[in-house]
Amino acid sequence: MLVRPRRNRKSASVRALVRENKVTGDDLIMPLFLVEGKKVNEVIQSLPVANRQSLDTIMKEIAECLKLGVHSFIMFPKIPDEFKDKTATYSYDPKNFYLKAATKIKKKYPSITLISDVALDPYSIDGHDGIVRNGEIKNDETLDVLEKMAVAQADAGFDVLGPSDMMDGRIEAIRDALDVEGHSNVSIMSYTAKYASGFYGPFRDALDSAPVNDPNIPKDKKTYQMDPANATEALIEAELDSLEGADFLMVKPAINYLDIIRLLKENSTLPIAAYHVSGECAMLIAACQNGWLEYTSVMPEALLSIKRAGADVIITYFAKDFMKLQLNKKVSLK
Ligand code: PBG
Repeated sequence: MLVRPRRNRKSASVRALVRENKVTGDDLIMPLFLVEGKKVNEVIQSLPVANRQSLDTIMKEIAECLKLGVHSFIMFPKIPDEFKDKTATYSYDPKNFYLKAATKIKKKYPSITLISDVALDPYSIDGHDGIVRNGEIKNDETLDVLEKMAVAQADAGFDVLGPSDMMDGRIEAIRDALDVEGHSNVSIMSYTAKYASGFYGPFRDALDSAPVNDPNIPKDKKTYQMDPANATEALIEAELDSLEGADFLMVKPAINYLDIIRLLKENSTLPIAAYHVSGECAMLIAACQNGWLEYTSVMPEALLSIKRAGADVIITYFAKDFMKLQLNKKVSLK
């Protein structure tokens, strides 16, 4: 035999030399769930690697992540019901605790990258990412709210805005609104190919943000999020987002959509982000808690698969545990 591929696998040192992909702290974005109050650190039953946290607890969480080498964060708010309405007005209210928290976080940690969520669902009594009227999600009226929300978030100090709503034309609308208000340096990480997936369950539990159960309200998000059967359509979204001024293109979910990550990577020169979503993490955790899989083995393998598929950036609830493993620290599931 002239060619023996096993020679390049013969020792840890040789394997390290020929290794094609590596996940590092620079690639990772840690999600944070913000709630009002003080000293809150509630475990989310269906997602035991993430907690709902008040600002003081989030400050400590960020410090811990920085020590581990994670310096990018995406923050989502859990909005009390009394602040919710049909048109998400609280999302751009200067009194909004989420906006105030962003300002304080950036003041304390100016060097981190802090990413927002631009969508109506946390603030909407209907639980949708757009304005609902006569049982329909109104695209163009929603853009007006998204513009106000985006400007308020930029004013608050977010470095990158993350429109997760999937309305048509939102990237251009947000980009224009930001530029007019003097925020030309604020970036946009667009949820470009966001699928109408069943894997968002634990996230909606965490934020209490699922579509409400009402015959006049669409029960799912299928008229705006993409059909899981489609791949080519992701290229339309990618082309639009690029032309409209997005700085990153995101694919979501990640593990069940590795083909889409690869497709966008090969068809765009923009950095590709992948959102390893709550349900994808939850099923892995559940199997590990049952002793059916080994956490320290499958968790890094899952992140590596996302990187290998072509993602430059990975949003994952495992960011902290992954870095602990890298640093030979102990990790355990609650
Ligand atoms: C809502 C939003 C969702 C997620 C991120 N932003 C849920 C949804 O679209 O219903 C899901 C993230 C996850 O499951 O981890 N705009």
